[in-house]
Amino acid sequence: MRKPIIAGNWKMFKTSAEVEAFIMQAKHNIPSETTVESVICVPSIYLALAKKLTEGTNLHVAAQNMHFAESGAFTGEISPVMLKDLGVDYVVIGHSERRELFNETDETVNHKVHAALAHTIVPIICVGESLEERESNNTDKVVSDQVVKALVDVTAPQMENVVIAYEPIWAIGTGKTATSDQAQETIHQIRVTLEKLYGQSVANMVRIQYGGSVKPDNVKELLEKSDIDGALVGGASLEADSFLALLTFKS
Ligand code: PGA
Repeated sequence: MRKPIIAGNWKMFKTSAEVEAFIMQAKHNIPSETTVESVICVPSIYLALAKKLTEGTNLHVAAQNMHFAESGAFTGEISPVMLKDLGVDYVVIGHSERRELFNETDETVNHKVHAALAHTIVPIICVGESLEERESNNTDKVVSDQVVKALVDVTAPQMENVVIAYEPIWAIGTGKTATSDQAQETIHQIRVTLEKLYGQSVANMVRIQYGGSVKPDNVKELLEKSDIDGALVGGASLEADSFLALLTFKS
């Protein structure tokens, strides 16, 4: 049984007062760890604050990005060592906004995945096709290529600590959700790719989220699909009420 993981990706939103207000409202209403793993992906400048405010609760904190080097002359970057120093246990890697706007490549994504795993930080690896790629029937090829390249030299035992997020670029922030059938179909293909790489038991264990205009009113239908193990949510995770409604998708 794969435990669903729901992660709110705040992107470049919120001030420190808003971070505090969100966490104070949400933290005592987070469902039990046994039902769902609940994560907020916080701007790096607020990671320490978020870690402090969530201490002893079921609300986990993720970074939205990191560099792959442990330290060095990389002005403006943050390293896996720094994340671990704050007790951060998850990091989003290769979000399409990072790939499109900040020149991240499959190769840097792979380096970052290795760096995260080396520091026992769970990488949430984002993959997904553009509208053009979907319309030219290349979705499965594009997504499977991204998965294979992100996982170069990642071993089967390491896969236990990897989460994949399938996020069709055309569905992010557009209000255009993939239908639950479309999401299930592509996520199933990702599992087939994992099976080719690592065999069936690993493929069945890895959690794969869907992301792209997930809202409280469509999360249940998406998560009922057999291969969809959670959601990576932008806009609808910014308000505590809405985030909490996502976490209680089963009721
Ligand atoms: P959205 O963003 O939910 O606002 O579409 C999803 C994401 O970018 O992870």
